[in-house]
Amino acid sequence: MGVVTLEKALFLLAITIATSPALIVCNNLRIKIKDSSVPSSSFPSNFLFGTASSSYQFEGGYVADGKGLSNWDVFTHKPGKIIDGSNGDVAVDHYHRYLEDVDLMESLGVSSYRFSISWARILPKGRFGGVNQAGINFYSNLIDALLRKGIQPLVTLHHYDIPQELQDRYGGWLSPKSQEDFVYYVDICFKSFGDRVKHWVTFNEPNIQAANGYRNGKYPPGRCSGQFGNCTDGDSENEPFIAAHNMILSHAAAVHIYRTKYQKDQGGSIGIVLEIGWFEPVSNSTADKLAAERAQCFFSNWFLDPIIYGKYPTVMQNILGSNLPKFTSNEVERLKKTGLDFIGINHYTAFYVQDCIYSPCEAGYGSSRTEGLYRSSPYKNGVPIGDPTGGYWQHVYPQGMEKAVMYIMERYDNIPMFITENGYCEFNNPNLTTEEFLNDVKRVQFMAVYLDALLRAIRKGADVRGYFVWSLLDNFEWTDGYTARFGLYHVDFSTLKRTLKLSGTWYKQFIAEHKVKALMPKQNGEHLQS
Ligand code: BGC
Repeated sequence: MGVVTLEKALFLLAITIATSPALIVCNNLRIKIKDSSVPSSSFPSNFLFGTASSSYQFEGGYVADGKGLSNWDVFTHKPGKIIDGSNGDVAVDHYHRYLEDVDLMESLGVSSYRFSISWARILPKGRFGGVNQAGINFYSNLIDALLRKGIQPLVTLHHYDIPQELQDRYGGWLSPKSQEDFVYYVDICFKSFGDRVKHWVTFNEPNIQAANGYRNGKYPPGRCSGQFGNCTDGDSENEPFIAAHNMILSHAAAVHIYRTKYQKDQGGSIGIVLEIGWFEPVSNSTADKLAAERAQCFFSNWFLDPIIYGKYPTVMQNILGSNLPKFTSNEVERLKKTGLDFIGINHYTAFYVQDCIYSPCEAGYGSSRTEGLYRSSPYKNGVPIGDPTGGYWQHVYPQGMEKAVMYIMERYDNIPMFITENGYCEFNNPNLTTEEFLNDVKRVQFMAVYLDALLRAIRKGADVRGYFVWSLLDNFEWTDGYTARFGLYHVDFSTLKRTLKLSGTWYKQFIAEHKVKALMPKQNGEHLQS
């Protein structure tokens, strides 16, 4: 054993104490989180504890072995799009290091890994070209490697990246032709991997894609108009709804194919993932309370209502009128019939919401008519809704997790849910040392209070079947490039070396304890759904 410096000894002590879920150490200060962070009852016995990732943010290998260019490959190579001028050409090189990464997951003790398939790796030119066998082999090998370690794959078919070919040919999600391409692609995935994949996600956060791609132009294809952003082309008042409409119908078509061709034999389930935040009314006024409800509608019910009930939320129809596309009666039938098997919730933060219908508000997120006539902000009278994090958009408000889960449970009749992403954003401060990044006490605190909030929702009857930390590794954070870190493992972005953080050690311990608790007989009257 090498020399143990005082600093290292304190760090090791910190890790040891922090792995007791109730206590963590921060700069030699013992902080009691809350007794309830050691819950008296546990998660359901088949609950999946996992970590999440996505192809563009993790894989790299952007032209390796026949992969085609994706919309993100092209977008990030345009100057000025990514804050630090970086891209995902290499990302964290998961494409070449996946075996090492599966070992890292095994050592955490996770039961599932959520990853996405790069469409352009499988179909470099969409349906206008052949299948790239090397791409099929990569995902097949990854799935086998996971299963060998007892880790279940939860696979997202589309996490923001499409083959650039489809963008160039017909404008991507703006064209109904995208539905045919999506079905063609997912059919190949179900056929190639469905014997081993039991959880499929059609889309990751189509609500964010529609808004960032077509309202403010921050994500590819970078379209917007007027006050909404600085783009050369676009129509912010209409295009987000057209793109969303095509994604909703693509989801339904994919579910239909799965149900009719594969589900019976393969025995898996299929759902969709939305970014689901929490919106608190800024005051007790009825107008602000209605505005908070309207925010949920314009944010996530925008997708979930049509997918589950076959129609857009009434409040959206009333406000948007002809800006909102219509479903044909056949599409309504298809939507209601296919639906989904589970709802994936990506939950990170909460906002205050102020009404803009009955009293004028300053311009800001949500305040325009096509955004829903509410203004959302993390601040009330200059005070943030929760402790700040490294992301200007993220504040620590764990009760938002409980409330969001209960809201979805009530609105959608307790359809099974997974927390498909939850994680803590840390600014990649160049003045910090690796040791300092490894001692990520704030991430530990964040995870403890959010898991505690989730458990409260489960105890109240919410049928939540899994929790996935965003993310296993620090990675490429979209327009923030490599300036934000979310990983349980630190990645040195120049050497790509992965090193376990305090949060990884804590999560490992948390999973181990809760796996044991889940196997223990439940106490009187303690009922958890499984
Ligand atoms: C996305 C991830 C992203 C994370 C953190 C989620 O909205 O699905 O791709 O990295 O948030 O911002």
